[in-house]
Amino acid sequence: MTVIANKCPEIKVEVVDINPTRIAQWNDEDLDNLPVYEPGLAELIAETRGRNLFFSTDVDRAIQEADMIFISVNTPTKTYGKGKGQAADLKYIELCARSIAKAATSDKIVVEKSTLPVRTAAAIKNILDNTSSGVQFEILSNPEFLAEGTAITDLVEADRILIGGDETPSGIAARNALSAIYEHWLPKEKILQTNVWSSELSKLVANAFLAQRVSSINAISALCEKTDADVDEVAKAIGLDSRIGPKFLKASVGFGGSCFQKDILNLVYIAKSYGLQEVADYWEQVILLNDYQKKRFAEHIISTLYNTVSGKKIAFYGWAFKKDTNDTREAAAIYVADALIEEHAHITVYDPKVKKEQMLADLNYLGTRSAEENEKYLSVVNSAYEASQDAHAIAVLTEWDEFVDLNWSDIYQAMMKPAFVFDGRRILDDQQLNSIGFKVYKIGQS
Ligand code: UDX
Repeated sequence: MTVIANKCPEIKVEVVDINPTRIAQWNDEDLDNLPVYEPGLAELIAETRGRNLFFSTDVDRAIQEADMIFISVNTPTKTYGKGKGQAADLKYIELCARSIAKAATSDKIVVEKSTLPVRTAAAIKNILDNTSSGVQFEILSNPEFLAEGTAITDLVEADRILIGGDETPSGIAARNALSAIYEHWLPKEKILQTNVWSSELSKLVANAFLAQRVSSINAISALCEKTDADVDEVAKAIGLDSRIGPKFLKASVGFGGSCFQKDILNLVYIAKSYGLQEVADYWEQVILLNDYQKKRFAEHIISTLYNTVSGKKIAFYGWAFKKDTNDTREAAAIYVADALIEEHAHITVYDPKVKKEQMLADLNYLGTRSAEENEKYLSVVNSAYEASQDAHAIAVLTEWDEFVDLNWSDIYQAMMKPAFVFDGRRILDDQQLNSIGFKVYKIGQS
């Protein structure tokens, strides 16, 4: 919405939420207190907030005033009932649709921005048509393809914009109205109009294909560790084939984030519910391989540290699911920490953007042990150097740029010997580290 406000000065954009704390954070004078860290976002907000971008809790008024409403609530994986652990929880979407139906007094275009299972637009339309009084709603699907950490550039230089809507005259008019917004900064050829179902499904499929690439290269990373092949060399060699392409072939400790796992599980659930068990199994394997990769990394740390990490200090460099974000949802670090704490290791984390409360909340959410116990085993410090003090090992869980240029000789001095480094992101110069005296393990290299 910030990018839309920035690119379309004549459009008034209002972001509303029922959570007053959230809205207060978005309105905070001090831009360091914005609830989301994203490179370039604070600068854009500084330019547009109070001009044509507003944040408020006055949901009903905003609904009444709007011509177009974007539903952008979260759709977590269900933790209860039918489809538990796989299906998307549509509770928030439904509540949203109901509040729109209740408050609207004029015709609206309603845009699904949240990632949803196929055919959700129909459900939204049903609720809107049956609960409102005579107001016309046009539902569009407009999935978001931005990635965290590069959100602003991904939006400004989007590969494509997808708009799904009905083929009826009013549906086409609504599609064109939404397209006109994006045409402020993108050429028309990049704005694809489809039917609603294709649009909804494409979002899930795009994420499934991306995650599949990561799982594929991670599967090969395990094989490289058993042979003399180097996974980056293999990735480069295959990526130069223009049919394969070079992106999303970086072996890692496992993918995380709010989308990949959730969307694949969703796809698996949908396939199963249509009786397509083989299709479901095929995509589920992408997740299973990812779980294996995280487990494999933790087990490798344990076996290398002479099969016991009990009472040992292990420094975690990074907690976020990738660099340039403070988001930790499904971060590999959570699962690796959990496995090591099971073996009574003491984890000391340094992440430039993630707060201790978040890390503890992530661990507590797994429910493996009590909150008190998690607090006993997890410490959080303010620098990479502090984390390495008296540590038996360092594990790189997030590829923050600052880890590359640390003074690794100082770190070596501060650590217990032998000093181990487990590079789960393949960002460190292993030859340099070896020459300092470190024992280095890099995922995807024997
Ligand atoms: C993803 C999609 O990229 C985006 O289009 C969609 O809108 C939302 O989901 P995001 O979750 O923000 O975006 O991050 P992404 O950059 O895709 O990375 C996901 C995970 O895969 C991260 O943990 C990342 O570290 C990992 N990854 C990515 C790899 O391990 N190797 C790679 O080569 C690429």
